[in-house]
Amino acid sequence: MDMNLTGRTAAITGGGGAIGRASAKMLAAEGVAVALLDVSEEAMAAAKAEIEADVPGAKVFTHACDVTDVASVTAAFDAAAVALGPVDILVNNAGFSRDKYMTKMVEEDWDIVHAVVLKGAFNCCRAVLPGMMERNWGRIVNMSSMAKDGNRGQTNYSAAKAGLVGMTNALAREAGGFNITCNAIAPALVATPRLKARPDFDKLEARSKTLTALPRLADEYDVARVVLFFSSCLADFITAQCIDVSGGR
Ligand SMILES: NC(=O)c1ccc[n+]([C@@H]2O[C@H](COP(=O)([O-])OP(=O)(O)OC[C@H]3O[C@@H](n4cnc5c(N)ncnc54)[C@H](O)[C@@H]3O)[C@@H](O)[C@H]2O)c1
Repeated sequence: MDMNLTGRTAAITGGGGAIGRASAKMLAAEGVAVALLDVSEEAMAAAKAEIEADVPGAKVFTHACDVTDVASVTAAFDAAAVALGPVDILVNNAGFSRDKYMTKMVEEDWDIVHAVVLKGAFNCCRAVLPGMMERNWGRIVNMSSMAKDGNRGQTNYSAAKAGLVGMTNALAREAGGFNITCNAIAPALVATPRLKARPDFDKLEARSKTLTALPRLADEYDVARVVLFFSSCLADFITAQCIDVSGGR
C-alpha cells in the first residue's frame, strides 16, 4: 500500500539510538530521505551504515546535534534542509532517564532530563514549524513513554514525558490549521540491544510480561511502526493523540 511518503524528508532526533534508527529505517523504506540528528557521531555512523545496507537506495544524512542547545539545533536543521530538502516530518525521539528516588535526586538529574525531553522537543519544533506552515504540511511525532503515568524512581522522567504529551496536544491545536499533525507515542519497556545487554534483563522481562496482555516485551520496530503510521497518509486526520505501545497494560 502506498503510504504517500515518497519524496518527503524526515528529521529524527536521537537517530543513532535503537528506536530512532528503526524509525528512520522504516521511513527510508517508504522513500523518505532521513536526517539522523544525535549527539553521538559514532551511533549515527552505525545507524547510517545499517539503514543503507538494509534499504537499498536510502537517502541518509547525519549531523551532530544537541537538542538542548538552540544554536546546535539551528545548525543541524539548516544543514539537513540543504542536504535533503525542507523537513516535512519531525520525530522528537532524543531522550534518556536518570532514575533515582526523589529524596536522592539532585537538581541536575531533574534539569538534564527536562532539557533533553521537553526543551529539546520545543527547540526542534521551532526549527521546523515555520517551513511546515509555509508549505501547509507537516507531521510531528513526539516520543513519550508509559512512564508518563508515573513510575517509581522516575519523577523527573515521568514529569517530562507527561509534559511532552501536554505539549503535543497544545501544538496540535495551534498547528492544525496548517495541515500539521502532532502526535505522541508512549512505549513501555522496549527490548533494545542496550536493554538486552543488561545483567538483569531476564528479571526485567519476566516482570514486564506479568503486566501485559501480550506476554512479551516490545522491540524497537513495534514503536517504529507507529512512527510510520503517524507520518503517513493513514493518519492524515489523526492529531493530538498519544498511542501506548505497551502490549496492553
Ligand atoms: N527503550 C525503552 O524502553 C523506552 C521506553 C519508552 C520510551 N523510550 C523513549 O524512546 C526514545 C529513544 O529511546 P531508545 O531506547 O532508542 O534510547 P537510545 O539510548 O538507544 O537512543 C537515544 C539516543 O538519543 C541520543 N541523545 C541523547 N541526548 C541527546 C541530545 N541532547 N541531543 C541529541 N541526541 C541525544 C543518544 O545519543 C542516543 O543515540 C527516548 O526518548 C526514550 O525516552 C524508550
